[in-house]
Amino acid sequence: MGRVAGKVALVTGAASGIGRASAEVLAREGASVILTDVQAMGEDVAAGIRKSGGKARFVAHDVSSEGEWTSIVAGIAKTEGRLDILVNNAGIAVAGLIHELTLEQWRHQMAVNVDGVFLGVKTSLPLMRKNRGGSIVNISSVAGLRGAANLSAYCTSKGAVRLFTKSVAIECAVMQDGIRCNSIHPGLIETPIWGQVVPGANEPFDLDAMSALRVPLRRKGMPADIANAVLFLASDESSYMTGEEMVVDGGMTVGST
Ligand SMILES: NC(=O)c1ccc[n+]([C@@H]2O[C@H](COP(=O)([O-])OP(=O)(O)OC[C@H]3O[C@@H](n4cnc5c(N)ncnc54)[C@H](O)[C@@H]3O)[C@@H](O)[C@H]2O)c1
Repeated sequence: MGRVAGKVALVTGAASGIGRASAEVLAREGASVILTDVQAMGEDVAAGIRKSGGKARFVAHDVSSEGEWTSIVAGIAKTEGRLDILVNNAGIAVAGLIHELTLEQWRHQMAVNVDGVFLGVKTSLPLMRKNRGGSIVNISSVAGLRGAANLSAYCTSKGAVRLFTKSVAIECAVMQDGIRCNSIHPGLIETPIWGQVVPGANEPFDLDAMSALRVPLRRKGMPADIANAVLFLASDESSYMTGEEMVVDGGMTVGST
């Protein structure tokens, strides 16, 4: 308990899946958490955290909107007075064969997964720098480390998050501002996002069967598996890590069994 006590954390995409679990774990460990999402049910997640004694508030937020980022960070400056942890988690998966993808679909993928992360870092850095320190955690994917059929737009967006993370890390190090930035690369995690990856599939999509086939540890991951990695990178326990890519995938990208 208390691994991020007294810190203020902003988690995007916190209404569901990995973002929700991350917000809950950070609050449990003592952070005051601002949850944001396009889905209003983020309010219920924040209420649940408060009910269990944690500090949390929800703000409706589309991460692709620069204006919304500016007003949310200004609100944190006014209400909490500081920002120590930023978890850029919100994301969507636009699936489709390359010759069938429209430019509009491609741009929508980049707007949420890439612009959203850029805007989050850009608008949060000045407030984080006021305290001379902080930790930024960007949720990339194993899809940011290698290609996949039917997921070219998603893989491109997650590859961009991987290298943007390293650029943020180096730029902050050059400025000696005490801010670290790392990426997490989840494998097959049980969340609603899989409904987007296999749209309208005739056969029910079976993440357990896919995990049994592709994951050396022979199981799918759960949101808590990623939230625990977020907690470590957000906390001072990882104070000598920056620009790192932490893969949490049950061994999937290491080799086949
Ligand atoms: N589940 C997996 O297997 C997996 C694997 C690798 C990476 N990821 C990444 O993890 C992150 C979280 O995804 P998840 O699996 O928990 O899925 P999820 O669908 O449960 O959660 C994503 C959340 O982001 C929110 N969101 C979507 N567009 C938004 C926008 N424009 N502004 C603000 N919020 C928005 C959604 O409303 C949702 O609550 C994503 O970046 C995803 O790409 C997931």
